[in-house]
Amino acid sequence: MMSDPQARLERLTSMLRRRGVILPAFEIHGGVAGLFDFGPVGGRLRRRLKNAWLEHWLSHGDIVEIDSPTITPEAVLMASGHVGEFNDHMSECTSCGGAFRSDHLIADLHGNPDSLSANELDILITQNKIACPTCSVIDWKPARPMNLMFGTRIGAMKGGRSAYMRPETAQGMFMQFPALYRHFRNRLPFGAVQSGKGYRNEISPRQGMIRLREFNMAELEYFIDPDVTPNHDFSNWDGVEFNLIPDPDFGGPITISPGTASTQNIIRHPTVAWFMARTWDFLVSVGIDPSRIRFRQHEGTEMAHYASDCWDAEIDGSYGWIECVGIAHRGCYDLGAHESATGDKNLRAWRPYDSPKVVDKTVLSGNSSLVGPLFKSRAGAVNSALESMNGLPEKFPFKLELDDGSSVSIDSEMVVEKRIQTTEHGEWFLPHVVEPAFGIDRILWHILDHSYVETEKGGDSYTVLRLDPSIAAIDVVILPLMEKNGLDQIARDIHQSICSIGNISSYYDGSGSIGRRYARADEVGVPWAVTVDHESVQNGSVTIRRRDDGNQIRIQPDDLVARLSSSDFTNLF
Ligand code: ATP
Ligand code: GLY
Repeated sequence: MMSDPQARLERLTSMLRRRGVILPAFEIHGGVAGLFDFGPVGGRLRRRLKNAWLEHWLSHGDIVEIDSPTITPEAVLMASGHVGEFNDHMSECTSCGGAFRSDHLIADLHGNPDSLSANELDILITQNKIACPTCSVIDWKPARPMNLMFGTRIGAMKGGRSAYMRPETAQGMFMQFPALYRHFRNRLPFGAVQSGKGYRNEISPRQGMIRLREFNMAELEYFIDPDVTPNHDFSNWDGVEFNLIPDPDFGGPITISPGTASTQNIIRHPTVAWFMARTWDFLVSVGIDPSRIRFRQHEGTEMAHYASDCWDAEIDGSYGWIECVGIAHRGCYDLGAHESATGDKNLRAWRPYDSPKVVDKTVLSGNSSLVGPLFKSRAGAVNSALESMNGLPEKFPFKLELDDGSSVSIDSEMVVEKRIQTTEHGEWFLPHVVEPAFGIDRILWHILDHSYVETEKGGDSYTVLRLDPSIAAIDVVILPLMEKNGLDQIARDIHQSICSIGNISSYYDGSGSIGRRYARADEVGVPWAVTVDHESVQNGSVTIRRRDDGNQIRIQPDDLVARLSSSDFTNLF
């Protein structure tokens, strides 16, 4: 029974539901595929993981947290390319009307179905006589792109504006580039993180927490100067071997340290390599088995519309290898796209020259004998608009926009060209962006999957969730041996003192045999169990039992509270 992976997955899923970790949402109304609740245990687990993620990046010193709205005006996502490009291919069954992701229908037949075109997908579906998973009929409409964003409206009736629920948090960070740039005193590199909900109207959600329609994203946008060669220190990972699967055009799988992969140009940009290494650190620190992490580089045809390079951190679990983090080099795609769409020049950074440059320039000014008499009080504005132009227009007459929002028509006689020399101290440029994008739900799922251990005790099956104590939902369970003779009151007092520490989660459990209560605590991964017994009534002391080896010590409750209050609360003895 223990070795059947499908049966193990079912037992794990059922435990997560029974114990209030992850549950289907809106179930009494029939539920919705791809929408889940984190229950009384899962809610805190998710928060701990999210906090660990934030702390991991905020401790860098050049990364700050921001928080943007989830409702995003259409214009933003039009400029970012999501309205046109954020699609998956969908195949529709002609018989029952069921819609499925085309690449999922042929997932077992191709190494990387995400990289295939609509035509290639159709050919594989037809050649392999793929039947509809719902009605078993083999007759499909041609695969077509379906946009994954949930549309909505801001405001009512005619005054309303089209909008979408954000498909990524990243755009919020791009919108706030000027504020971030000011915050960092106009110096690159720097980064911003954001953790919050993302929405994707997935065509056919499946595999539990892997493919959700509303999910927890955690993204970092790191802004760099493309002309500066970064100097990352990879010495922390010397001798740590990463499993890399480069794009097949560049070679086969390789086991290599991130520093060497960067030096050998297997990972093309050092900052991408560095974020891959820091991603690996994070995943391992929250309890992912390092031997079950690999990095796979996207093939050219698989890459998101904004990316010039991308490595996915994939984790092996009950659903096979699953992408949990995408580490993309977005170049200046987003800042450039928003600049073109809005004309806003504040999305640029300043690069000072090593020494000032004297440059010859052609500047324009107004022909005073014509501009003055023609434009009268607006002549000054016309002159300064002409002076700020970058060379002559392609043809005359042309429309010149003035600062007050009005415009005038200018023909060739009104303009005088002058050659001048100026001294320039630097230039404005569009920063590049490296982005690690994490899916908190997928990571959380794999933490649960990797820490779920099935054993036997006294002939019965016994399960333990060996969660890293730093992210366990409940830190300590308080168990009175029996709920009488004052034991329950002592236990409740201890529970209350621990709750008052703040940020430590204590759970009082007084019902059932002590053995069953230990088992219940182990099942949801509580690292420490405190038992109040008869000796506690006599001398106040209680036992602490460690989940992973069952070892126990006796201490006074004050000492217990002091240890839980310390920064090393995950290691009580
Ligand atoms: P997939 O190829 O599996 O659809 P993706 O390439 O679209 O994923 P990204 O756009 O790179 O994923 O999103 C960044 C991260 O967000 C992913 O690595 C994943 O962890 C998470 N993610 C993406 N889509 C979902 C989803 N529908 N449900 C849960 N997490 C998701
Ligand atoms: N921001 C990365 C993504 O949504 O894929």
